[in-house]
Amino acid sequence: MKKILFVFGTRPEAIKMAPVIARFKKDTAHFKTYVCVTAQHRQQLDSVLRLFGIKPDFDLNLMRRNQHLPEITCRILKGVSALLQKLQPDWVLVQGDTTTTFAAALAAFYQHIPVGHIEAGLRTYRADSPYPEEINRQLTSRLAALHFAPTKLNKENLLKESVPADTVFVTGNTVMDALQLIVKKISPAQEKKIARQLRLAQYDISRLTPTRKLILITCHRRENFGPGIEQVARAAIQLSKAYTQVDFVWPVHFNPNVRKAIKNIKGVSKIPNLFLIEPLDYLLFVYLMKKAFLILTDSGGVQEEAPALGTPVLVMREVTERTEALSAGCVKLIGTDFQTIVRETGKLLAQPKLYAKMKKAVCPYGDGKAGRRILEVLKKGGK
Ligand code: UD1
Ligand code: UDP
Repeated sequence: MKKILFVFGTRPEAIKMAPVIARFKKDTAHFKTYVCVTAQHRQQLDSVLRLFGIKPDFDLNLMRRNQHLPEITCRILKGVSALLQKLQPDWVLVQGDTTTTFAAALAAFYQHIPVGHIEAGLRTYRADSPYPEEINRQLTSRLAALHFAPTKLNKENLLKESVPADTVFVTGNTVMDALQLIVKKISPAQEKKIARQLRLAQYDISRLTPTRKLILITCHRRENFGPGIEQVARAAIQLSKAYTQVDFVWPVHFNPNVRKAIKNIKGVSKIPNLFLIEPLDYLLFVYLMKKAFLILTDSGGVQEEAPALGTPVLVMREVTERTEALSAGCVKLIGTDFQTIVRETGKLLAQPKLYAKMKKAVCPYGDGKAGRRILEVLKKGGK
């Protein structure tokens, strides 16, 4: 019987860990499964824990308002180290590229506890973008003993960095497992409840008619703080004034740097078809992604989910580590220049052929069985 400790702290990690945890929890013959949340995020994490019914065994409750990288890194390293000392798991599993991912992997490495890295091998090879996630990923790859790569391309990146081939497993992205679980819950019977919850979240879905479209916006990356987010906000204003038959819905991330940048833009809260709302529970957000005509985002996870839901994405970043969807044609990289965002959105609204091509491209991120594959590898002791 192996003792497995899952460690995560933010919204995207929770979403991508949830289906994997569910698999391990079920297999009581082989695994004793523990969950530790650092709570690097608080509200955005709790909303995912509630949705997937995850009750952490350990909650380090580390989030502070407007936390800086050195302090959150130190708190996670100390908090997770103390827990590892006490629990002595056989494996620590981390996910993705956040400070929790890197600091928890480092804590495990210091105590000679092997680390399995879920969503390994994504790279831009640009230390400044995404910042600090690119380096968090690279450092986690140096620390991990097992690497669960979503795609073949991610595996190739790891092999180029001399990661031993027999420690790398292509599993698909666990976000597909999560998405499938949630899409199943969005039955027609649930839609009334969803509409009610969205109204409470300040967006009335009954506004959408065959002639009124929805464009969803999210933006939160550190490299976009300040001028980047300000340009996105100005583009949102320009677009919502130009296209009054389109609703622009922007659930605004809790990071105070994001909120400050948006607030600085005059008039942003006064446009009847531009909705700046609180972050949405994952199920509501998935529902809106599915309904949306288009998504403008700098999110990593959304770049993977939207193609699976058949919704085109304009990625507001200079580079992306998720190049598979670029090659498949479901997403386009446009940066955060105001004029470019307005122009590219306008093109998709005006050119049905261009739009249809993006919409029908095939999602390259897996089949929803990543969690099962990860479990099988660990069942065989990492082979
Ligand atoms: C973090 C990750 C980023 C990931 C993102 C997902 C790092 C360095 N950054 O960025 O990789 O893409 O999460 O969303 O690991 N806050 C709240 N409530 C919440 C969440 C955040 O109030 O539920 C506020 C707090 O003031 C907090 C701040 O946001 O201090 C920043 O949180 P932090 O986790 O450091 O960075 P994110 O920008 O959320
Ligand atoms: N998401 C959500 N509610 C929102 C916005 C996003 O549940 O209001 C989900 C989204 O579907 C994706 C995840 O949060 O699964 C992405 O989180 P984020 O963009 O914060 O982080 P990233 O993926 O960029 O690391």
